[in-house]
Amino acid sequence: MARHISARIKRLRPSATFKLDTAAKELQRQGVDVISFALGEPDFPTPKHICDAAAEAMAAGKTKYTPAAGIPELREAIAAKLSRELGHEYKPSQVVVSNGGKHALMNVWQCILEPDDEVIIIAPYWVSYADQVELCNAVPKVIPTTADTDFQPDLDDVRKALSPRTAAILINSPSNPTGAVLERGIIEALAQMAVEVDAWIVSDEIYRDILFDGRSHFSAAMVSEEVRERTIICDGVSKTYSMTGWRIGWLVAPEDVAKAAGNLQGQETSNPNSIAQWAALAALQGPQDCVEEMRAEFERRRDYIIGALAEIEGVKISKPGGAFYAFPEVSAFLEGQLEYNGQPIRDDLTLCEYLLHAARISVVPGSAFGADGYVRFSFATSLERIQEGIRRFREALGQ
Ligand SMILES: Cc1ncc(COP(=O)(O)O)c(C=O)c1O
Repeated sequence: MARHISARIKRLRPSATFKLDTAAKELQRQGVDVISFALGEPDFPTPKHICDAAAEAMAAGKTKYTPAAGIPELREAIAAKLSRELGHEYKPSQVVVSNGGKHALMNVWQCILEPDDEVIIIAPYWVSYADQVELCNAVPKVIPTTADTDFQPDLDDVRKALSPRTAAILINSPSNPTGAVLERGIIEALAQMAVEVDAWIVSDEIYRDILFDGRSHFSAAMVSEEVRERTIICDGVSKTYSMTGWRIGWLVAPEDVAKAAGNLQGQETSNPNSIAQWAALAALQGPQDCVEEMRAEFERRRDYIIGALAEIEGVKISKPGGAFYAFPEVSAFLEGQLEYNGQPIRDDLTLCEYLLHAARISVVPGSAFGADGYVRFSFATSLERIQEGIRRFREALGQ
């Protein structure tokens, strides 16, 4: 057979926003003051006690390989946290620590999917889900939702998408890119459908600690024992503790899945970074006021940005219940009344290019998340920058 690149890798989509990112960075390099609403990571420094724990780990020589599934102390701390929060006893043997939540998810798909299996994904969705599922030669079945229904899925749509090949229903609440928190009744209904077709629930709970308006997190694993036994939770320290660069995430699953994922990881990457694991342990076991401080600051920004976007005529906005994203619908501005490069603007990607050049703000087009006609604002930037950025946005829309 001729030398070639595999079909499944060729299918991977290059990042839809790459051109936009490059253009934003180039403008910044030229000294242009671009306000970035594009980042998917908290803007706060990692809390000091966590960084100190990493320095101590290095000084103590914790610089060698660890068990593939993670250091026992961290697996115990993750199991203990989840047991406390979900009111059910999880064992450390159900936990596999990986190089970030994204890697944990990839491990999950590889452990549970056969070629041509289907995964129900609610759109707008974090773009890696579809690519990861396709990398396993499986098929994403996308259920669209809109701002009109606060991005809650129509259960009939989900039911119609079920088939004998449904291997998993993916839940991401709070969601990236919408910030939507799925209603408890919706989660219960999705869980019930998973039971009916004997599918997994894969629950990406990476934003579970960033919730607003006094909400508390509801996981599919809390629905019933029957549901818990088919729920795989993915989480990590990236968003909760502002630790995106440390690359620590995990899956918590029934023991046979965790064992399979540990074996897979053993052949794939071995253990996640040892020093970062000790830092993650300090994050979980240390003082938690930093989590509340960051959460409260995100809520303050959410209140401002949602109020300001709602005042712009033509923008439709649903109030996010968590995470740090606002996802306004902007299709009223895609009817050709605005121009970029002498051409009428008719799609969200071109609108984002226009906003970058005319307003010096960078936002991510909704089409990157399977939702044309929207843009994503991350409010992981200071309130002052958000205020100035929204002023520029408004002006560029002609208001
Ligand atoms: C919905 C969602 N899941 C998972 C992740 C993975 O985060 P990490 O790999 O940094 O743990 C992200 C990061 O942007 C995300 O937005």
